[in-house]
Amino acid sequence: MLTQTGRRRIAVLVSGRGSNLQAIIRAVTDGRLEADIALVLTNRAEAPGLGHAAAAGLPTRVLAHGDFPDRNAFDAALAEVLTAASVDLVCLAGFMRRVGPSLLDRYPRPILNIHPSLLPAFPGLNAQQQAVDHGVKITGVTVHFVTAELDAGPIVLQRAVPVFDDDTAETLSARLLSVEHDLYPEAIHRVLHRPWHLVGRRVQFDHHEPPLR
Ligand code: GRF
Repeated sequence: MLTQTGRRRIAVLVSGRGSNLQAIIRAVTDGRLEADIALVLTNRAEAPGLGHAAAAGLPTRVLAHGDFPDRNAFDAALAEVLTAASVDLVCLAGFMRRVGPSLLDRYPRPILNIHPSLLPAFPGLNAQQQAVDHGVKITGVTVHFVTAELDAGPIVLQRAVPVFDDDTAETLSARLLSVEHDLYPEAIHRVLHRPWHLVGRRVQFDHHEPPLR
């Protein structure tokens, strides 16, 4: 789905701070990510990310999950909003609602997520604390397609980040976050602009290009 100017359209879904959203906005503004942010959607009206979107003049939408009787009804409404937005790609950026079959069955277009570990290590919540507790020396960031299984979809890009002996979950989170801010716009740009296909669970890009900088 291209705009009149021929640009790809994305939706970004947030529930909180929205620093990845800000990184995506910056990458669009400075041309590293060729796309239009057609929608920023949140399930939490008080999410700071919503303020960042509004400040950037982006279309926003609040879909409060508490307003719906159950997950199925929320997912049906979400699928409807995303379909109406006519986007090429949905990007979860700290969206704290589980995306399950009731959304994926209704919304067949690709959905990306960013996770602060080298999946399949440390899926789920508090991945940074899990890494510190486990004592790994290297963790990282993963951008992957969303499937019904939590944090288990095909991997688009990963980048390693060292864990230092004196790290806490907070210091490690900060180091991971600066990598997230670089990696997510790069991954989105790739998925939108480079032909790719799935071989089993492997995401293969059809030809090589220098990485986005
Ligand atoms: C990030 O660490 C992201 O990897 C995870 O949730 C956090 C969202 O942070 N999925 P922010 O809202 O983008 O600042």
